[in-house]
Amino acid sequence: MDKWGIIGLVHDLDYEMYPEEHCKKVRSILKEENWPESYIRAIVSHGWKLCSDVEPVERMENVLYAIDELTGLINATALMRPSKSVMDLEVKSVVKKMKSKGFAAGVNREVIIEGVQRLNMELNQAIDETIKGMRKVAEEIGLKGTVS
Ligand SMILES: [Fe+2]
Repeated sequence: MDKWGIIGLVHDLDYEMYPEEHCKKVRSILKEENWPESYIRAIVSHGWKLCSDVEPVERMENVLYAIDELTGLINATALMRPSKSVMDLEVKSVVKKMKSKGFAAGVNREVIIEGVQRLNMELNQAIDETIKGMRKVAEEIGLKGTVS
């Protein structure tokens, strides 16, 4: 597996056992296992301004920062639909839900907006690409729904 895949997989490593110390505990855990600093940095920076003061700098760090929140919003939006699917989900539905403050309140809109800016992308473009990425793995992430 490549670096992006590994970091995507383990970035919430400390969340389950140490929810109060999320983004903090992971450094010592991975250091003990001799993980490279660049991996640790990328993982810690996904919680910038939320649970860490390490700023995402590299492109991959910024992608993780923005898309971690954005996938949460897309996931919640897809599950609200009759089809429960990401396959027929449109960008405008996600934008609408993003503006609705009470919806999926745990998703930090500011992180999405800032993260997308840091990627030099337009919000709609970022949502579109993320939906497309999620469609490729819809089965695995439980968002295939009733759309065949
Ligand atoms: Fe996290």
